[in-house]
Amino acid sequence: MYKVVSTEVIAPSVHRLVVEAPRVAAARRPGQFVIVRSSADAERIPLTIADADADAGTITLIVQAIGRGTREIAEVPSGGALRDVAGPLGEPTEIRRVGRVVCVGGGVGTAVLFPLAKALAEAGNEVTTIIGGRSEPFVILRRELAAFSKAVLTATEDGSLGVKGFVTAVLAEILADPARVPAAVYAVGPLPMMAAVAEQTRPMGIRTIVSLNPIMIDGTGMCGGCRVTVGGQTKFACVDGPEFDGHQVDFRELANRQGTYAEHECRLSNARGENRS
Ligand SMILES: Cc1cc2nc3c(=O)[nH]c(=O)nc-3n(C[C@H](O)[C@H](O)[C@H](O)COP(=O)(O)OP(=O)(O)OC[C@H]3O[C@@H](n4cnc5c(N)ncnc54)[C@H](O)[C@@H]3O)c2cc1C
Ligand code: FES
Repeated sequence: MYKVVSTEVIAPSVHRLVVEAPRVAAARRPGQFVIVRSSADAERIPLTIADADADAGTITLIVQAIGRGTREIAEVPSGGALRDVAGPLGEPTEIRRVGRVVCVGGGVGTAVLFPLAKALAEAGNEVTTIIGGRSEPFVILRRELAAFSKAVLTATEDGSLGVKGFVTAVLAEILADPARVPAAVYAVGPLPMMAAVAEQTRPMGIRTIVSLNPIMIDGTGMCGGCRVTVGGQTKFACVDGPEFDGHQVDFRELANRQGTYAEHECRLSNARGENRS
């Protein structure tokens, strides 16, 4: 069992949990994730290790409650426990000092972006962060990102914070200014957002890394659930990723595969009388 030391709601349906997991905290590197089960019969849910404190033996998870599995994790109270926290899993982010980088986060993708943006800044890169969401309450980790970013720029669909529109509009402004063009772009968020970012940077040949979130089951490369096509080759996001060259990812195939169980999940939750937001 893994004790939940503290919990906090940081945005509508988005919870931050600090969890005692000393071995994971000591071994984890930016970009890696864990697979969590809240109880013995719960689903296995992949979650990025948003932060870790090796001295305290804790990791931070940020979870958006969108279905049964994530809701059960989000509902564990402070002082409660998670049944399993398996990891660290996945390839760590390749952290290089390249100079100027732009990190783009959409919705809860910002939680996945946070550890790699922090590691890029610690490696001496100048990090500009662009984050967005539906409206101001959905834009997470602004203060935390500002601690190491040269600038944190925001976009919201309703214009309640920063630019009205998508994060890609803010990125377009940066890419149009020769004095601000980055050496690399990192993007994490909904698939259409990552695909759009990759298309923006492709003509300029800017190295663009995306973090993929296909359906995962075992997280060890055995089940094939997380299969993605990158550069025409089959990769397993759990062991070969989750980060890949955005210019090489087949986003259309990934979007089709992600929807595989949507109808089934919907039928199940309707049968349980759950309200899906
Ligand atoms: C490597 C990795 C890291 C992740 N890190 C985080 C994180 O730090 N915080 C966080 O909140 N979420 C993260 N996710 C996404 C999270 O794992 C899914 O939201 C979760 O598995 C959904 O399970 P559920 O039972 O709550 O919802 P379900 O009822 O299974 O699904 C709810 C809805 O979400 C869709 N969905 C299912 N699985 C995924 C998925 N893997 N990604 C996106 N949509 C999905 C379904 O199609 C459905 O529409 C990560 C996913 C991966 C693969
Ligand atoms: S989750 Fe099973 S192969 Fe990746």
